[in-house]
Amino acid sequence: MHWLQGVSTFLDQGSFSFMSLQDLLSQAWENIKSAAVDPSHPFRFLAFNTLGEVYPDTRMVVLRHFNPDANQLFVFTDRRSEKVKHIKIDDRVSLLFYDQERRVQVKCLAHATLLSMPDSVPYWKRLKSGKESYNTLHSPATVANSWEEAVALKPTFDAEDFGVIRCDLDELEVLQLQSSGHQRARFTFLGGSLDASEWLVP
Ligand SMILES: Cc1cc2nc3c(=O)[nH]c(=O)nc-3n(C[C@H](O)[C@H](O)[C@H](O)COP(=O)(O)O)c2cc1C
Repeated sequence: MHWLQGVSTFLDQGSFSFMSLQDLLSQAWENIKSAAVDPSHPFRFLAFNTLGEVYPDTRMVVLRHFNPDANQLFVFTDRRSEKVKHIKIDDRVSLLFYDQERRVQVKCLAHATLLSMPDSVPYWKRLKSGKESYNTLHSPATVANSWEEAVALKPTFDAEDFGVIRCDLDELEVLQLQSSGHQRARFTFLGGSLDASEWLVP
């Protein structure tokens, strides 16, 4: 059985509601915009994929900020982390969102940049909680001799290892699942503006 047939068995048998290419893009845009400010939005957590040194590498991150005018998404991380090492070697990343209730998947291809320390500080200042995530004594992924050693924090919190990754969108792909006809579309960006929109076979 084709995987889409399997998925569609979970869907309501509602009537087909056609969305234009513009509708699909606007919906994705609105969802990403909302998620950047609403911690309960399903797009708040996304899979962030880098080109690892040996395997492709994926991890969950929080969408922290979205700049719709420049098509930029922002995530926070520890500057010492593996994902930062990866983007310094190859800045191509993909970001994957899924909203189970709306049955929509959004895949973004982007170029990632780690912001400089001075450019990260305003984000650090606005961060209300969770600063310990960027203040472990040892770098993320260090092999520790004990759990206590693994979670040990620096004596005082600072922004030294706090990093902001900016993702400049190259491509956005939407898959809207519907029992009566899935809709898949690709949107390509060039120099921060929409360059092309096209339907794809789901
Ligand atoms: C729900 C969830 C949200 C997370 N959010 C972040 C995040 O915003 N930034 C981050 O660096 N790591 C976040 N993590 C941890 C990462 O998934 C990952 O384990 C960590 O960043 C180390 O990744 P790396 O060694 O591949 O760089 C999150 C994990 C989960 C499960």
